[in-house]
Amino acid sequence: MSKSDIKHLAIIMDGNGRWATERGLKRTKGHEAGAEAIRDITTYCAAHETIETATFYAFSTENWKRPKLEVEFLMKLLDKYLKRELKTYQEHNIRFQAIGDMSEFSKSLQKRIKETEELTKNNENLTHILALNYGGRAEITMAVNDLIKQGKTELTQEDISSALQTPYSDIDILIRTSGEERISNFLLWQLSYSEFYFTPTLWPDFSAEELNTILESFTQRNRRFGGL
Ligand code: IPE
Ligand code: IPE
Ligand code: MG
Repeated sequence: MSKSDIKHLAIIMDGNGRWATERGLKRTKGHEAGAEAIRDITTYCAAHETIETATFYAFSTENWKRPKLEVEFLMKLLDKYLKRELKTYQEHNIRFQAIGDMSEFSKSLQKRIKETEELTKNNENLTHILALNYGGRAEITMAVNDLIKQGKTELTQEDISSALQTPYSDIDILIRTSGEERISNFLLWQLSYSEFYFTPTLWPDFSAEELNTILESFTQRNRRFGGL
């Protein structure tokens, strides 16, 4: 695979809690550091020649199982992140979009998300998608239900692909930080032919330099898509 083929990059940002615990800090400090780490990675992607979309997993449909205080902290952090990073999005010509079921968020957070999407909608260097209250199974189920509502009785793969929330479905590379090697219900449909890269680095320590090294290593991989 040549570097020029990387259009859609996906990242599971994992390890914030462990980063904090290792330092004798509360888990919330790890989330704060993790939110800071996003900036360099998105600006790197925006400057990258071929990356058009970068989809980051920020909150899963399963993350509601965490202690209430941690969930509340994450919601407030998301609001602060969007408020603070609007400047980054505008300066680097990055479009922001969210996927997932936002209806469970507070009205004010939903408003912030919509506003950020609206204010950045004409930006062209990169589409930065945050997956929020996102689950791969939920996304596929929602897509199929939408198609049923439209009156379809038989579906093609193209029907399902185009009914998903992610605008460019196929992901070239998935990176997961923190050493865990699983998908955790991320983009199940869109990952069917992705290359996977697992790094032990905890998300707050993940840098543009490491991302660059990973992308370079992918140029050595041979993507066959079932052919020879
Ligand atoms: C990822 O870090 C952030 C979210 C899932 C919100 P974690 O909070 O999962 O960190 P670890 O896995 O406990 O270290
Ligand atoms: C996956 O991380 C979700 C996000 C990074 C938002 P988790 O830490 O929630 O995943 P598991 O529980 O280790 O599978
Ligand atoms: Mg985790």
